Amino acid sequence: MMAEIAPINFTRGVPADESLPVDELIEAAREALATHRSGILQYGPSTGFPPFRDWIAEWLGVAPNRLLLANGSLQLIEFVCLELLSPGDVVFTESPTYDRTLTLLRRHGAKVVGIPLEPDGPDIAALELALERNVPKLFYTIPDFQNPAGATCSATKRRRIVELADKYGFLLLEDAPYRLLRYRGTPEPTLFDLAPERTLHMSSFTKLIAPGIRTGFLAGNEALVARLAKIAEDTYISPGYLAEGVAYEWCRRGSLPGQIEKLKRLYSPRLDACLAAIDRHLPGVDATRPDGGFFISVILPPDAMTTAVRTAARERKLNLADGLAFFPDGGGERFLRLPFCALTPEEIEDGIQRLAATIADVREAA
Ligand SMILES: Cc1ncc(COP(=O)(O)O)c(C=O)c1O
Repeated sequence: MMAEIAPINFTRGVPADESLPVDELIEAAREALATHRSGILQYGPSTGFPPFRDWIAEWLGVAPNRLLLANGSLQLIEFVCLELLSPGDVVFTESPTYDRTLTLLRRHGAKVVGIPLEPDGPDIAALELALERNVPKLFYTIPDFQNPAGATCSATKRRRIVELADKYGFLLLEDAPYRLLRYRGTPEPTLFDLAPERTLHMSSFTKLIAPGIRTGFLAGNEALVARLAKIAEDTYISPGYLAEGVAYEWCRRGSLPGQIEKLKRLYSPRLDACLAAIDRHLPGVDATRPDGGFFISVILPPDAMTTAVRTAARERKLNLADGLAFFPDGGGERFLRLPFCALTPEEIEDGIQRLAATIADVREAA
């Protein structure tokens, strides 16, 4: 009987296929090639397809020379590591944090210190204590609808983080790919708004248009951006102008605001379905309750470790990701990330029901 049920994947934080604006991008691709011709087929400045860089600069309200486009925001993190880190350098991240960033930091030999994350952002007392021991080169933080926890940093904590960065003299690497996917409530200021010279602010079109566009952008201090642009040039000469040209034409036509509204209409009921299903099937479980983004996280009951739940869940065709990889220095044994955007409300309800049944199986076997 089990073999017949469809699998449900609470694994990767990918956009829903139905969110991708395929037909509009076909039009934009035609227009981009017809208009820019060799301009998007040739090499060019490593800072990105110039008209798109100018468009993003205006959209963000920063000078174009403070902006670097690259093939995805993960690539930008790699450039920041190459420019700023030497083996043994200390980097702070939230704990948990985005696992791929941890991989990059470790690849560069960084000593990663995790600052425990609370539902309203990093634990400030823990941050202060960690600063008494080590001043990091960088604090990598995801203040809006954090991956993997779903937490959003409060304005008060953002201000305090900026004060501490000023006091101790470290850079903030603000990764904000989910910021515009706010389904309710009002946005907090970015760290870049609060401290533009201390912050490298990053975002990406992966969650707003499509991962295949592979365009991320970083805004920061002009001199540092120029150094990162040199690394970009030495890495790939210039980024993917064809994709940037298509995205530019699509943005220039004014498609972004409508797409963001479309995403909110699609994802907001999925967030609500996930929260309601947790309340119904896992009452009392410790869960984040985000107002946007892609992720809810739960802390499983004490006698249900994520690794055991994950293994048992396969019996019910429920695929879960391990929580441990998100934690820079241990912990996370009961942490479970639930990416809800690529599942329908019905699949979410079914998935959480299967999760609750799996937890009961594991607790019974314990
Ligand atoms: C916090 C965070 N940063 C960076 C990325 C990578 O984005 P990109 O596709 O722009 O490289 C992701 C993707 O999931 C993410 O969640």
